Amino acid sequence: MKHHLRKSTIYCISALFLFGCSNKKNNNSMIDTKKETIKEKVDSLLSKMTLEEKVGQMNQYNGFWDVTGPVPEGGTAKIKFEHLKKGWVGSMLNVRGTENVKEVQRIAVEETRLGIPLIIGFDVIHGYKTLSPIPLAEAASWDLQAIEKSARIAAIEASASGINWTFAPMVDISRDPRWGRVMEGAGEDPFLGAKIAKARVQGFQGDDLSKNNTIAACAKHFAAYGFSEAGRDYNTVDIGTSTLYNSVLPPFKSAVDAGVKTLMNSFNELNGVPVTASKFLQRDILKDKWGFNGFVVSDWASINEIIIWGHAENKRQAAKLASTAGSDMDMEGYVYVRELAQLVKDGIVKEEIIDDATRRILTVKFELGLFDDPYKYCDPENEKQNIGNKEHHDAVLDVAKKSIVLLKNENNLLPLKKNGQKIALIGPLANEKNSPLGSWRLGSDDNTAISVLEGMQQYKGNTLLFEKGLDLIEGEASFTQHVNINTTNRSEIKKAVNTAKNVDVVIMVLGEHGFQSGEGRSRTELNLPGLQQELLEEVYKANKNIVLVLTNGRPLTIEWADKNIPTIVEAWQLGSQSGNAIASVLYGDYNPSGKLPMTFPRNVGQVPIYYNYKNTGRPKEEPNVFWSHYIDSKNTPLYPFGHGLSYSTFEYSNFKVHGSSFNINDFIKITVDLKNTGEFDGKEVVQLYIRDLVGSITRPVRELKGFELVNLKKDETKTIEFNLSKKELGFYNNDGKFIVEPGKFEVFVGGSSVTKLKQEFELTK
Ligand code: NOJ
Repeated sequence: MKHHLRKSTIYCISALFLFGCSNKKNNNSMIDTKKETIKEKVDSLLSKMTLEEKVGQMNQYNGFWDVTGPVPEGGTAKIKFEHLKKGWVGSMLNVRGTENVKEVQRIAVEETRLGIPLIIGFDVIHGYKTLSPIPLAEAASWDLQAIEKSARIAAIEASASGINWTFAPMVDISRDPRWGRVMEGAGEDPFLGAKIAKARVQGFQGDDLSKNNTIAACAKHFAAYGFSEAGRDYNTVDIGTSTLYNSVLPPFKSAVDAGVKTLMNSFNELNGVPVTASKFLQRDILKDKWGFNGFVVSDWASINEIIIWGHAENKRQAAKLASTAGSDMDMEGYVYVRELAQLVKDGIVKEEIIDDATRRILTVKFELGLFDDPYKYCDPENEKQNIGNKEHHDAVLDVAKKSIVLLKNENNLLPLKKNGQKIALIGPLANEKNSPLGSWRLGSDDNTAISVLEGMQQYKGNTLLFEKGLDLIEGEASFTQHVNINTTNRSEIKKAVNTAKNVDVVIMVLGEHGFQSGEGRSRTELNLPGLQQELLEEVYKANKNIVLVLTNGRPLTIEWADKNIPTIVEAWQLGSQSGNAIASVLYGDYNPSGKLPMTFPRNVGQVPIYYNYKNTGRPKEEPNVFWSHYIDSKNTPLYPFGHGLSYSTFEYSNFKVHGSSFNINDFIKITVDLKNTGEFDGKEVVQLYIRDLVGSITRPVRELKGFELVNLKKDETKTIEFNLSKKELGFYNNDGKFIVEPGKFEVFVGGSSVTKLKQEFELTK
């Protein structure tokens, strides 16, 4: 495979005309769309289609400038246009802007025999032009409404730009921060992940898919991609059924229950079978057991990769395996379009498989209303008005503030005083307008984020001195290239140290560049990249009043900072409004309320580390070596899942399970009082965990089973109520069957996964 690595305009859409557009008449009239149901319309259309046209619906081509994967052999623009005009393309990705979309749509609708419109896909991962925080950051808000709204805005902007299908939400659970794609998901927990999956699907799809500002969502990557061995992207996955059913699948199931229209499979193999060829996942579980009636798109050329994995001899066999397994659409792989029709003619693939896939794809197109008006997303006026407006910026600012996690706040360095202070702002990421946009932002413009410096400058009462301390990057800051934070040039460090000497507070903005996490960006170290640790330690020698603001796409190992730096704020990559959100938290205009959706390890050796681990047979510390531990590190994480502080303090009391013994079919009422005992109004995410003490399949030491985001004024108290049912108390056995077992349970309530507040109850048959 040849790698295409530049984001540049290679072929512009108008190049179409070079290949000639014949003047066939618009055959839309062949489709009578009036009174029939969508099923009838699909059946009627299907009956008119040739085998090649049906296979064409299963074929998706990349557009002509954004390239989000390696370019496969023979993938030329000439072939794409030829196929487009023959009606052999069902979808395109990475075509955007109303004019461009209109042009490809025009060929599909006006130049082909049946005039079937294209569905236009794009990676709208955390916003289109106006960017929200990266999804991992948004997950830290635990605020399902804000997350839904953020997806809604992304859909409004993307649809205004001609797009009607997003490759989001990414719902991969991962316990390995070395994997760069943890920034795209909701973290390590299946319960939180399932709730967020639903919120995001609802946000993208809205309540009526046929509106011109809603788009089809795509839950990805089905499945288990987040368990890539050693955190290396695209790597092998080998996990047991218990992990698959209890940890990996729940967010996908939740997306399906929320009505998600499509799923994307993944690059990994699962227990020896590349998942693109996995009938077990796609046909048996997804389509048969869960009754999913949308369609599955392959990941970028992942059908071809079945061969490279060593599971198919050639494209013909790969096409057969993937289509029978239930991969309905081939993304930029050229395999289906070249092989499938012949496979059917040779009697190797049943035509019903092709009909089923085509039916699924056409159904989504009808639901989107594309047959009623194929150009409904192509209104330039709408494009002008609905992209990047103030309302959208306000909304992403809101969710950005909510995503910030206060990890540590000693000596009350925060919130900052608003007047009379001398503040030094130091760090290579402090003046960054590009990095906060994260890695998935192809629809946005480079260097458009509000930097921390700009955010801080809004507050005029203090003296603000800025020093970058290090030149930012080595390499090219782009979606396809490697980038690093300065590893050699120390020339700026001294200036930063001098500036730090005579100030009241130093704010240091360190972390990862936005292009250091995301696809293809696994790391073996989780420290502050480049010379940043050195810069931090040098500045610390000059002034100990440091607030460390981390901007990064994954949990980092910051044990030294935790030991020495009094105040640490996790600010992720927060999107377009990043600097405003950070400044408003630092100055206390927003009281931080985020909680970690992923465990922060002390060191890389602890990875994978997660809160819902199993007890082992030797969990208890012994005076000898014979217990489950490391000889060179604690077992415990640096910051646990669910951790996050506020400028206020919260007191839990009156924790009660209302009863001690319950039937399996009962609801179990649990209440706790929460009081804001601090000096500020604030918010707390009250978390509820259970432990099923004895299971036919051993159960984790804790499992999140409820949470509530509670607003409390200073001195206010509220009673929070949870109701557990068998849905929360059961689990999947190794046959994938959901079971609830009687016995003793512990239940925990508090502000993080290590809360000590515990009660018990018993479940009976
Ligand atoms: C590959 C990525 O794995 C997937 O998430 C993305 O949607 C496609 N490329 C399309 O860009």
